[in-house]
Amino acid sequence: MRTQVVIIGSGPSGLLLGQLLTGAGIDNVILDRVSKDYVLGRVRAGVLEEGTVHLMDRARSGARMHAEGLPHDGFSLAFDGRDHRIDLHDLTGGKRVMVYGQTELTRDLMAERARTGAPSIYAAANVTPHDFEGHAPSVTYELDGTTHRIDCDFIAGCDGFHGISRKSVPEKAIRTFEKIYPFGWLGILADVPPVSHELIYANHPRGFALCSMRSQTRSRYYLQCALDEKVEEWSDQRFWDELRRRLPTHHAEALTTGASFEKSIAPLRSFVAEPMRFGRLFLVGDAAHIVPPTGAKGLNLAASDVHYLFEALLEHYQDRSNAGIDAYSAHALARVWKAVRFSWWMTTMLHRFPDTSDFDQKIQEAELDYLTHSRAAATALAENYVGLPF
Ligand code: FAD
Ligand code: DHB
Repeated sequence: MRTQVVIIGSGPSGLLLGQLLTGAGIDNVILDRVSKDYVLGRVRAGVLEEGTVHLMDRARSGARMHAEGLPHDGFSLAFDGRDHRIDLHDLTGGKRVMVYGQTELTRDLMAERARTGAPSIYAAANVTPHDFEGHAPSVTYELDGTTHRIDCDFIAGCDGFHGISRKSVPEKAIRTFEKIYPFGWLGILADVPPVSHELIYANHPRGFALCSMRSQTRSRYYLQCALDEKVEEWSDQRFWDELRRRLPTHHAEALTTGASFEKSIAPLRSFVAEPMRFGRLFLVGDAAHIVPPTGAKGLNLAASDVHYLFEALLEHYQDRSNAGIDAYSAHALARVWKAVRFSWWMTTMLHRFPDTSDFDQKIQEAELDYLTHSRAAATALAENYVGLPF
């Protein structure tokens, strides 16, 4: 088989790139090692920047997101028993974010892909990129016991942090940067109305808490937890009791509890691989970088990589220019590092670190106080939260 672009990975970045390319008449095949249902079963991000919303529209997959997603003009920072609203809309000259789950975004892109008839191959084993340093790359995979090969012009490695694309690059050609945080996030989903109509990011002596949502009847809540904690040790009752303790009283009293239907623990890390292009192989999204979830940048960063790569491929095929391709890594990394910085800063400001000294604690409190009293400081937070321009 031959195609123009092989996309490894059917997460948000692979599907978004696939539908942008399909819309521009550029042939592509998506390969994933797991099934479609498995991809749809992953509960992850929930907040979309305007740039991501715009890309969904450009991929002709935005209709349900506009109908069912929840535009948010602000969020709350809770600490010291009170909360302070960050008015995103006012501070950024009219920008807002969209609360719409990664699962739904993925479902919409898959539906559009099926409608256009663009090929996706699921449950493909041993997906392997070949010869991407030369002019004739290819990707092999196994399905039903047979090895298949797809010849192509380019390979997009959209296969997440544990994927094969980054691992296929010789070690000496790649440099990685990493920071592991000494805690995780315990997250639950429950069909109860959200405690507040906007998100609440809470800094509390017992640890960070986040009140988010998927709809007006579905809540997504997170608690900072120790890295060695087990999900089984957290009954719903224990989760709700702990969440109440970490929220200002008026929110704690307004909290509606109920049975959770998803509960998991995620570790937090910052990671960047440089460069993001190796000949005809590009790394996109989590394959190239990971951010801690505080600030909701992971999925949005994957979307901005897709933007840069799509524009570069369009320039290659429509204008016969490789300028965009040559600049992809530098363009993407400039934005990546700013989001890495922002996520690190939000994480540092809002969590309790096990080794925090009295000095560190005072600095954290001063940072929060500064944010709530300085419009300049709040504006810097808001402009990063809604997403820096592409
Ligand atoms: P992925 O979504 O990881 O998709 C990669 C795809 O590649 C997968 O479908 C995988 O099956 C496939 N694949 C992997 N290896 C291979 C292979 N060898 N061959 C073929 N296919 C392969 N972000 C936020 O903004 N907010 C959050 O609350 C949040 N929570 C998260 C919780 C968890 C547990 C995780 C892991 C991430 C979370 N993120 C969150 C980050 C966000 O979900 C990611 O940034 C986003 O999914 C990145 O999309 P992607 O398409 O680049 O990678
Ligand atoms: C969600 C996750 C985040 O990391 C965040 O900052 C906001 C919302 C969520 O899953 O809803």
